[in-house]
Amino acid sequence: HNYEYIQVSEPRPGVGQVTLNRPKALNALCTPLINELNSALREFQSSDSISAVVLTGSERAFAAGADIKEMAPLTFSAAYRGNFIESWSELTTALKKPLIAAVSGHALGGGCELALMADILYCTRGANFGQPEIKLGTIPGAGGSQRLTRAVGKSKAMELILTGKSFSGEEAERWGVAARVFESYEELLKGALDTAETIAGYSRVAVQAAKEVVNKSQDLALRDGVEYERRVFHALFGSQDQKIGMKAFAEKKKPEWSHQ
Ligand code: HXC
Repeated sequence: HNYEYIQVSEPRPGVGQVTLNRPKALNALCTPLINELNSALREFQSSDSISAVVLTGSERAFAAGADIKEMAPLTFSAAYRGNFIESWSELTTALKKPLIAAVSGHALGGGCELALMADILYCTRGANFGQPEIKLGTIPGAGGSQRLTRAVGKSKAMELILTGKSFSGEEAERWGVAARVFESYEELLKGALDTAETIAGYSRVAVQAAKEVVNKSQDLALRDGVEYERRVFHALFGSQDQKIGMKAFAEKKKPEWSHQ
Protein backbone atom coordinates (compact mmCIF):
# COMPACT_ATOMS: atom_id res chain seq x y z
CA HIS A 1 0.00 0.00 0.00
CA ASN A 2 1.11 3.50 -0.78
CA TYR A 3 -0.27 5.68 1.96
CA GLU A 4 0.41 9.42 2.04
CA TYR A 5 -0.21 10.21 5.70
CA ILE A 6 0.56 6.98 7.55
CA GLN A 7 3.14 4.20 7.56
CA VAL A 8 2.14 0.59 8.08
CA SER A 9 4.42 -2.23 9.21
CA GLU A 10 4.52 -5.60 10.98
CA PRO A 11 7.44 -5.04 13.38
CA ARG A 12 6.91 -8.18 15.50
CA PRO A 13 5.26 -11.57 14.97
CA GLY A 14 1.51 -11.02 15.07
CA VAL A 15 1.84 -7.27 15.61
CA GLY A 16 0.75 -4.55 13.19
CA GLN A 17 1.89 -0.97 13.55
CA VAL A 18 0.42 2.24 12.17
CA THR A 19 2.59 5.35 12.41
CA LEU A 20 0.88 8.66 11.75
CA ASN A 21 3.14 10.46 9.32
CA ARG A 22 2.12 14.00 8.48
CA PRO A 23 5.09 15.78 10.07
CA LYS A 24 4.49 19.19 8.46
CA ALA A 25 1.20 19.55 10.36
CA LEU A 26 2.22 17.67 13.54
CA ASN A 27 -0.01 14.79 12.40
CA ALA A 28 -3.16 16.94 12.31
CA LEU A 29 -5.96 14.52 11.55
CA CYS A 30 -7.34 15.59 8.18
CA THR A 31 -10.06 13.47 6.59
CA PRO A 32 -7.72 11.69 4.13
CA LEU A 33 -5.49 10.68 7.06
CA ILE A 34 -8.45 9.23 8.96
CA ASN A 35 -9.53 7.39 5.81
CA GLU A 36 -6.07 5.87 5.47
CA LEU A 37 -6.03 4.94 9.16
CA ASN A 38 -9.42 3.23 8.83
CA SER A 39 -8.26 1.38 5.74
CA ALA A 40 -5.07 0.15 7.46
CA LEU A 41 -7.01 -0.98 10.52
CA ARG A 42 -9.59 -2.78 8.39
CA GLU A 43 -6.74 -4.63 6.73
CA PHE A 44 -5.19 -5.59 10.08
CA GLN A 45 -8.64 -6.69 11.24
CA SER A 46 -9.04 -9.10 8.32
CA SER A 47 -5.41 -10.29 8.35
CA ASP A 48 -4.85 -13.80 9.72
CA SER A 49 -1.29 -12.97 10.72
CA ILE A 50 -2.09 -9.95 12.94
CA SER A 51 -3.29 -10.27 16.54
CA ALA A 52 -2.70 -6.80 18.01
CA VAL A 53 -2.05 -3.30 16.71
CA VAL A 54 0.14 -0.42 17.89
CA LEU A 55 -0.79 3.13 16.87
CA THR A 56 1.84 5.82 17.25
CA GLY A 57 2.97 9.17 15.87
CA SER A 58 6.37 10.81 15.94
CA GLU A 59 8.49 11.72 18.93
CA ARG A 60 7.26 15.32 18.60
CA ALA A 61 3.57 14.66 18.00
CA PHE A 62 1.11 11.81 18.30
CA ALA A 63 -1.42 14.18 16.72
CA ALA A 64 -2.01 17.90 17.28
CA GLY A 65 -5.74 17.59 16.72
CA ALA A 66 -8.28 17.54 13.99
CA ASP A 67 -7.14 19.65 11.04
CA ILE A 68 -8.09 23.20 12.02
CA LYS A 69 -7.60 24.50 8.47
CA GLU A 70 -10.01 21.87 7.15
CA MET A 71 -12.60 22.61 9.84
CA ALA A 72 -12.44 26.40 9.71
CA PRO A 73 -14.86 26.90 6.79
CA LEU A 74 -17.23 24.04 7.71
CA THR A 75 -20.90 25.00 8.13
CA PHE A 76 -23.45 23.48 10.48
CA SER A 77 -25.42 21.93 7.64
CA ALA A 78 -22.35 20.39 6.00
CA ALA A 79 -21.11 18.99 9.33
CA TYR A 80 -24.58 17.71 10.24
CA ARG A 81 -25.53 16.24 6.91
CA GLY A 82 -22.10 14.66 6.37
CA ASN A 83 -22.05 13.52 10.02
CA PHE A 84 -18.55 15.01 10.37
CA ILE A 85 -16.21 12.91 12.62
CA GLU A 86 -18.50 9.86 12.52
CA SER A 87 -15.92 8.00 10.44
CA TRP A 88 -13.49 8.27 13.35
CA SER A 89 -15.51 5.83 15.40
CA GLU A 90 -14.90 3.09 12.83
CA LEU A 91 -11.74 2.65 14.82
CA THR A 92 -13.60 1.69 17.95
CA THR A 93 -16.29 -0.36 16.26
CA ALA A 94 -14.55 -2.17 13.40
CA LEU A 95 -11.34 -3.23 15.12
CA LYS A 96 -11.87 -6.31 17.30
CA LYS A 97 -8.16 -6.75 17.90
CA PRO A 98 -6.46 -4.88 20.77
CA LEU A 99 -5.18 -1.42 19.88
CA ILE A 100 -2.35 0.11 21.88
CA ALA A 101 -1.73 3.85 21.49
CA ALA A 102 1.90 4.90 22.05
CA VAL A 103 1.80 8.66 22.66
CA SER A 104 4.85 10.93 22.55
CA GLY A 105 4.70 14.71 22.17
CA HIS A 106 1.42 16.48 21.44
CA ALA A 107 -1.88 14.65 21.75
CA LEU A 108 -4.29 17.57 21.56
CA GLY A 109 -7.97 17.84 20.75
CA GLY A 110 -8.82 15.09 18.30
CA GLY A 111 -5.34 13.65 18.90
CA CYS A 112 -6.12 13.22 22.58
CA GLU A 113 -9.51 11.75 21.67
CA LEU A 114 -7.90 9.32 19.23
CA ALA A 115 -5.51 8.15 21.96
CA LEU A 116 -8.44 7.76 24.37
CA MET A 117 -10.16 5.43 21.87
CA ALA A 118 -7.31 2.91 22.15
CA ASP A 119 -7.69 -0.15 24.37
CA ILE A 120 -4.41 0.54 26.14
CA LEU A 121 -2.66 3.92 26.26
CA TYR A 122 1.08 4.22 26.86
CA CYS A 123 2.91 7.55 26.78
CA THR A 124 6.17 9.30 27.48
CA ARG A 125 6.48 11.23 30.73
CA GLY A 126 6.71 14.47 28.75
CA ALA A 127 3.74 13.81 26.45
CA ASN A 128 1.41 16.80 26.10
CA PHE A 129 -2.28 15.87 26.31
CA GLY A 130 -5.19 18.28 26.23
CA GLN A 131 -8.61 19.28 24.92
CA PRO A 132 -7.95 22.86 23.78
CA GLU A 133 -11.08 23.14 21.59
CA ILE A 134 -12.56 25.79 23.90
CA LYS A 135 -9.78 28.15 22.78
CA LEU A 136 -11.01 27.78 19.19
CA GLY A 137 -14.62 28.49 20.09
CA THR A 138 -15.71 24.87 19.96
CA ILE A 139 -15.78 21.68 22.04
CA PRO A 140 -14.39 18.12 21.81
CA GLY A 141 -16.19 16.25 19.03
CA ALA A 142 -14.69 12.77 18.94
CA GLY A 143 -15.73 11.50 22.36
CA GLY A 144 -13.35 13.53 24.54
CA SER A 145 -16.03 14.85 26.88
CA GLN A 146 -17.22 11.28 27.45
CA ARG A 147 -14.03 9.18 27.50
CA LEU A 148 -11.88 11.70 29.38
CA THR A 149 -14.64 12.12 31.98
CA ARG A 150 -14.90 8.36 32.48
CA ALA A 151 -11.12 8.21 32.80
CA VAL A 152 -10.45 11.07 35.24
CA GLY A 153 -13.84 11.88 36.79
CA LYS A 154 -16.17 14.83 36.26
CA SER A 155 -14.44 17.62 38.14
CA LYS A 156 -11.02 17.14 36.57
CA ALA A 157 -12.48 16.58 33.09
CA MET A 158 -14.59 19.70 33.45
CA GLU A 159 -11.54 21.71 34.47
CA LEU A 160 -9.48 20.40 31.54
CA ILE A 161 -12.20 20.90 28.93
CA LEU A 162 -13.34 24.33 30.19
CA THR A 163 -9.84 25.80 30.54
CA GLY A 164 -8.20 23.98 27.62
CA LYS A 165 -5.13 23.45 29.81
CA SER A 166 -2.95 20.55 28.85
CA PHE A 167 -1.70 17.74 31.07
CA SER A 168 1.52 15.77 30.98
CA GLY A 169 2.17 12.11 30.37
CA GLU A 170 3.15 11.83 33.99
CA GLU A 171 -0.28 13.16 35.04
CA ALA A 172 -1.99 10.91 32.49
CA GLU A 173 -0.42 7.90 34.17
CA ARG A 174 -1.18 9.13 37.69
CA TRP A 175 -4.85 9.68 36.77
CA GLY A 176 -5.25 6.32 35.08
CA VAL A 177 -5.58 7.72 31.54
CA ALA A 178 -2.33 5.96 30.64
CA ALA A 179 -1.51 2.43 31.73
CA ARG A 180 2.23 3.12 31.74
CA VAL A 181 4.67 5.95 31.25
CA PHE A 182 8.14 5.76 29.65
CA GLU A 183 11.20 8.01 29.73
CA SER A 184 11.84 8.18 25.97
CA TYR A 185 10.11 7.62 22.64
CA GLU A 186 12.31 4.57 21.97
CA GLU A 187 11.38 2.96 25.29
CA LEU A 188 7.73 3.84 24.70
CA LEU A 189 7.66 2.13 21.33
CA LYS A 190 9.50 -0.92 22.65
CA GLY A 191 7.09 -1.14 25.60
CA ALA A 192 4.05 -0.94 23.32
CA LEU A 193 5.44 -3.55 20.92
CA ASP A 194 6.40 -5.87 23.81
CA THR A 195 2.85 -5.71 25.17
CA ALA A 196 1.36 -6.23 21.71
CA GLU A 197 3.63 -9.24 21.19
CA THR A 198 2.61 -10.70 24.55
CA ILE A 199 -1.06 -10.37 23.59
CA ALA A 200 -0.31 -11.86 20.16
CA GLY A 201 0.98 -14.97 21.96
CA TYR A 202 -2.51 -15.79 23.29
CA SER A 203 -5.62 -17.29 21.75
CA ARG A 204 -7.20 -14.78 19.38
CA VAL A 205 -10.64 -16.00 20.37
CA ALA A 206 -9.96 -15.33 24.05
CA VAL A 207 -8.26 -12.00 23.34
CA GLN A 208 -11.21 -10.75 21.29
CA ALA A 209 -13.64 -11.86 24.00
CA ALA A 210 -11.56 -10.16 26.72
CA LYS A 211 -11.50 -6.87 24.80
CA GLU A 212 -15.23 -7.12 24.16
CA VAL A 213 -16.22 -7.64 27.79
CA VAL A 214 -13.92 -4.92 29.16
CA ASN A 215 -15.37 -2.48 26.63
CA LYS A 216 -18.90 -3.47 27.69
CA SER A 217 -18.10 -2.16 31.16
CA GLN A 218 -18.04 1.34 29.66
CA ASP A 219 -21.60 1.05 28.35
CA LEU A 220 -23.50 -1.19 30.75
CA ALA A 221 -24.70 -1.02 34.34
CA LEU A 222 -22.64 -3.29 36.63
CA ARG A 223 -25.24 -6.08 36.91
CA ASP A 224 -25.75 -6.21 33.15
CA GLY A 225 -22.00 -6.09 32.56
CA VAL A 226 -21.28 -8.92 34.97
CA GLU A 227 -24.02 -11.01 33.36
CA TYR A 228 -22.69 -10.22 29.88
CA GLU A 229 -19.20 -11.26 30.97
CA ARG A 230 -20.52 -14.54 32.36
CA ARG A 231 -22.33 -15.36 29.09
CA VAL A 232 -19.19 -14.71 27.04
CA PHE A 233 -17.19 -16.75 29.58
CA HIS A 234 -19.68 -19.62 29.08
CA ALA A 235 -19.35 -19.28 25.31
CA LEU A 236 -15.58 -19.74 25.50
CA PHE A 237 -16.13 -23.32 26.71
CA GLY A 238 -17.18 -23.84 23.10
CA SER A 239 -13.75 -22.82 21.81
CA GLN A 240 -10.92 -25.25 21.01
CA ASP A 241 -8.43 -22.89 22.62
CA GLN A 242 -10.03 -23.23 26.07
CA LYS A 243 -9.44 -27.01 25.82
CA ILE A 244 -5.93 -26.49 24.43
CA GLY A 245 -5.01 -23.95 27.15
CA MET A 246 -6.26 -25.96 30.11
CA LYS A 247 -4.86 -29.27 28.79
CA ALA A 248 -1.45 -27.64 28.29
CA PHE A 249 -1.56 -26.37 31.88
CA ALA A 250 -2.29 -29.86 33.20
CA GLU A 251 0.54 -31.33 31.09
CA LYS A 252 2.94 -28.50 32.00
CA LYS A 253 3.37 -27.66 28.30
CA LYS A 254 3.20 -24.46 26.29
CA PRO A 255 -0.20 -24.22 24.57
CA GLU A 256 -0.26 -24.34 20.77
CA TRP A 257 -3.31 -22.22 20.01
CA SER A 258 -5.58 -23.12 17.11
CA HIS A 259 -7.31 -19.70 17.32
CA GLN A 260 -10.57 -21.62 16.99
C1 HXC B 1 -3.88 21.99 11.34
C2 HXC B 1 -1.93 22.20 12.53
C3 HXC B 1 -2.55 21.73 13.70
C4 HXC B 1 -3.94 21.38 13.62
C5 HXC B 1 -0.50 22.15 14.16
N1 HXC B 1 -0.65 22.44 12.87
N2 HXC B 1 -1.64 21.72 14.70
N3 HXC B 1 -2.59 22.33 11.37
N4 HXC B 1 -4.55 21.53 12.42
N5 HXC B 1 -4.62 20.92 14.66
C6 HXC B 1 0.36 22.95 11.93
C7 HXC B 1 0.67 24.40 12.18
O1 HXC B 1 -0.28 25.22 11.56
C8 HXC B 1 2.04 24.51 11.54
O2 HXC B 1 1.87 24.60 10.14
C9 HXC B 1 2.67 23.18 11.83
O3 HXC B 1 1.59 22.29 12.14
C10 HXC B 1 3.61 23.21 13.02
O4 HXC B 1 2.92 23.77 14.11
P1 HXC B 1 3.49 24.99 14.99
O5 HXC B 1 2.32 25.63 15.65
O6 HXC B 1 4.40 25.85 14.18
O7 HXC B 1 4.37 24.18 16.06
P2 HXC B 1 4.69 24.59 17.58
O8 HXC B 1 5.01 26.05 17.67
O9 HXC B 1 5.71 23.60 18.05
O10 HXC B 1 3.32 24.35 18.37
C11 HXC B 1 2.77 23.07 18.50
C12 HXC B 1 1.29 23.14 19.00
C13 HXC B 1 0.49 24.08 18.07
C14 HXC B 1 1.27 23.67 20.43
C15 HXC B 1 0.77 21.72 18.99
O11 HXC B 1 0.72 23.69 16.71
C16 HXC B 1 -0.97 24.06 18.34
O12 HXC B 1 -1.45 24.65 19.28
N6 HXC B 1 -1.73 23.36 17.48
C17 HXC B 1 -3.17 23.31 17.57
C18 HXC B 1 -3.59 22.41 18.69
C19 HXC B 1 -5.11 22.36 18.80
O13 HXC B 1 -5.75 23.40 19.02
N7 HXC B 1 -5.69 21.18 18.63
C20 HXC B 1 -7.09 21.01 18.69
C21 HXC B 1 -7.68 21.22 17.33
S1 HXC B 1 -9.43 21.20 17.41
P3 HXC B 1 2.57 25.77 9.26
O14 HXC B 1 2.03 25.55 7.90
O15 HXC B 1 2.19 27.06 9.90
O16 HXC B 1 4.04 25.46 9.41
C22 HXC B 1 -9.83 19.57 17.42
C23 HXC B 1 -11.28 19.31 17.42
C24 HXC B 1 -11.58 17.88 17.58
O17 HXC B 1 -9.03 18.71 17.43
C25 HXC B 1 -13.01 17.67 17.36
C26 HXC B 1 -13.34 16.35 16.76
C27 HXC B 1 -12.26 15.53 16.28
